[in-house]
Amino acid sequence: MQSILTETKTSRSQTGNSKKNTVDRRLKALNIAIKRNQYHQDALIEILHKAQESYGYLEPEILEYIARQLKLPLSRVYGVATFYHLFSLKPSGVHSCVVCLGTACYVKGGGKITSAIEEKLGIHAGETTSDNQVSLMTARCIGACGIAPAVVFDGNVTGKQDPETVLQQIKAWQSEAE
Ligand code: FES
Repeated sequence: MQSILTETKTSRSQTGNSKKNTVDRRLKALNIAIKRNQYHQDALIEILHKAQESYGYLEPEILEYIARQLKLPLSRVYGVATFYHLFSLKPSGVHSCVVCLGTACYVKGGGKITSAIEEKLGIHAGETTSDNQVSLMTARCIGACGIAPAVVFDGNVTGKQDPETVLQQIKAWQSEAE
């Protein structure tokens, strides 16, 4: 993938080894996920998850790379990446908070959790705070219905959340940033 490799070279010359290693690790993690799934097209969602986990969001070059590796039309990869709210095509904040709004989670208060965060941060789902600290996203079902309502903080799935516990986590992030 030309652009990621280019980014790696740029990072080497500009910021030295630690940035280089970060970039390399991300690409490595993505490639491991692709290989582990034996380039199966059915593994697209899992691979997109890994890419987002590694890069923070799904930039066009990454989607093109995945499409090439899985031999899928780019339109299909874009279709999946834009269909699921869990995926973000824009840069996200320092922290990410994904509230599940699948049926089980919604029934148990996922909607109230989302509203509480929107009100507290002054943003809507899909947006990032102006200080770039927190991105709020929603998902349809993240496969953790047994612990509904589920919220993913920085990639960690947590369950049995309520507006109070979620706002506590956000407050902790905000204190860290001060
Ligand atoms: S509905 Fe939320 S995890 Fe399934």
